[in-house]
Amino acid sequence: MRIIRNIKQMCKASKKARLNGQAIGFVPTMGALHPGHLSLIRKARYENDKVAVSIFINPTQFGPREDSKKYPRNLKQDTYLCTKAGVDIIFYPDTKEIYPDNYRTYVMVEELSDCLCGKFRPGHFRGVATVVTKLFNIVQPDVAYFGQKDAQQAIIIKRIVEDLNMPLKIKVMPTIREGNGLAMSSRNVYLSPDERRDAAILYQALNLAKGLIREGNRDSLDIIKKMRQLINKKKNAKVQYISIVDLENLKPMPKIEGSVLIALAVWIGKARLIDNIIVKLSNCHG
Ligand code: PAJ
Repeated sequence: MRIIRNIKQMCKASKKARLNGQAIGFVPTMGALHPGHLSLIRKARYENDKVAVSIFINPTQFGPREDSKKYPRNLKQDTYLCTKAGVDIIFYPDTKEIYPDNYRTYVMVEELSDCLCGKFRPGHFRGVATVVTKLFNIVQPDVAYFGQKDAQQAIIIKRIVEDLNMPLKIKVMPTIREGNGLAMSSRNVYLSPDERRDAAILYQALNLAKGLIREGNRDSLDIIKKMRQLINKKKNAKVQYISIVDLENLKPMPKIEGSVLIALAVWIGKARLIDNIIVKLSNCHG
C-alpha cells in the first residue's frame, strides 16, 4: 500500500490505473477510521480493481467556532486498518497542498446546503462540496462511496456529480451502528460512557417515528413533537433540529407521503451527533 502526499503523484497513479483498464473505487474520509468507514472501504475493495482512500481534515468545512485542529487523528491506526482492508493508496495531502495561499474557488450547491445541518453550520457544505470536487478531480475514480449517516452530504454530492457532469458513480452505503443503535462516528470519542449510553436515544427517536408512521400517523409535526419529548427525557441531550423532509429536495413534508428522510441533530454533552433514517410509505401500511 502506498501513502501519497502529493497531488501530481496521485494523478499519475490514477492515470496509470486507468490506462491499464483498472476501475478505481474511492472513499473520501477525514481519518480516525471506524467500522462505518471500513464498510465503505470493503465495498470499494469488492467492486473495483484499485481502491484509494483519502484522509484529509478539511479546514473549509469547519465553522469559526469549530476547531479542525482538535478533530481526532490517528494515522498509524488508519494505515494499519487500510492495509488490512486491502487499500492500494492512501491519499494524505497537507492542507497547503489542497489550499495553497492563492486558493480562491468554491463550489456551492443552492438550496440543498442551507437546510437541516446547513442551517446550523453555515458554510459547512460549501467546504464539503469544494473538497470533494477537488478530490474527484485529483483521484478521478470510477465510483465513490459515501455513508447514509451523512444523508445531506450524500444528496449534495450526488447533485454536484449530476449538475457538473462528472464521469463517476456515487454509491451510498447503510449506516453502521453500535450495539445500542448509536451511529458510529469519529466524534463518539468525545462521549463519556454515560453519554454514550444516552446517545442511543437518537436512534430510538427515529424508530419511534417509524413506528408511528407504520401505525398510520402522517402528521410530521405531531411525530416530531413525540420524538422531541422522548429525547428530552435524557438530561444530557439537547435537540438542535428534527426534520421530516423530501428525499431529493430536502424540503419539509408536513404530511407524510412516498418516501421521507427523517433527520436529526442532537447535542449530547460536548458532542453534536447526527442520525437519520429513510421511511418508505409503501412498507408502512397504516
Ligand atoms: P468522515 O466523517 O470521515 O466520513 C467519511 C465517510 O464515511 C462519509 O461518507 C460518511 O458518511 C461515512 N461514514 C461515517 N460514519 C459512518 C457510519 N456510521 N456508517 C456508514 N458510513 C459512515 O464525511 C466526511 O468525512 C467528510 O465530510 C468528507 C466527505 C471526507 C469531506 O471532507
